Amino acid sequence: MALIEWQSSYSVDVKEIDDQHKRLVEMINNLHQAMADRKAKEVLGDIIQGLVDYTQTHFSTEEKYFKQFGYEDTEEHIKQHENFVKKVSDFKEGFDSGRLMLSIDVINFLKDWLINHINGTDQKYTDFMHNNGIQ
Ligand code: FEO
Repeated sequence: MALIEWQSSYSVDVKEIDDQHKRLVEMINNLHQAMADRKAKEVLGDIIQGLVDYTQTHFSTEEKYFKQFGYEDTEEHIKQHENFVKKVSDFKEGFDSGRLMLSIDVINFLKDWLINHINGTDQKYTDFMHNNGIQ
C-alpha cells in the first residue's frame, strides 16, 4: 500500500494544480518505496533531487497566478514555499555528503508538510483562482 493515498479532500478544485499535487504525492510515495526496497544511495539521491526540482516547478505555478492576479496572501504563502525548499535542499546536501540519512522521519516530514500545506494554505486560494478564471 502506498504511503499516501490521494483523497478528494486534498483537492484545491483547480485541475492543473491538483495534477501537480498528485505528482508530488506520487514522488513521495516513490521515495518511500525506494527506501523500503533499500535502493542504492545514488537512486535515492536522484529521487530526492527530482522532488526538489518538481516542488520548485509546482511552487512557481502557484506563485505565477498569485502575482498575475494579485493574491492577498502572496507574501505569507511564498514564505512557506521558501522555507520548505530550503529544508529539503539542506537535507539533500546533507544526504549527498553522508552527514544525513534518509529515514521514515524524513519521509513523514515531507508527507505531513505537503498534506498540511495543501489543506491549510493552498485550499484558501480556491475562490481566488475561480474568480480569476482558473479552474
Ligand atoms: Fe501547492 Fe502552495 O503549494
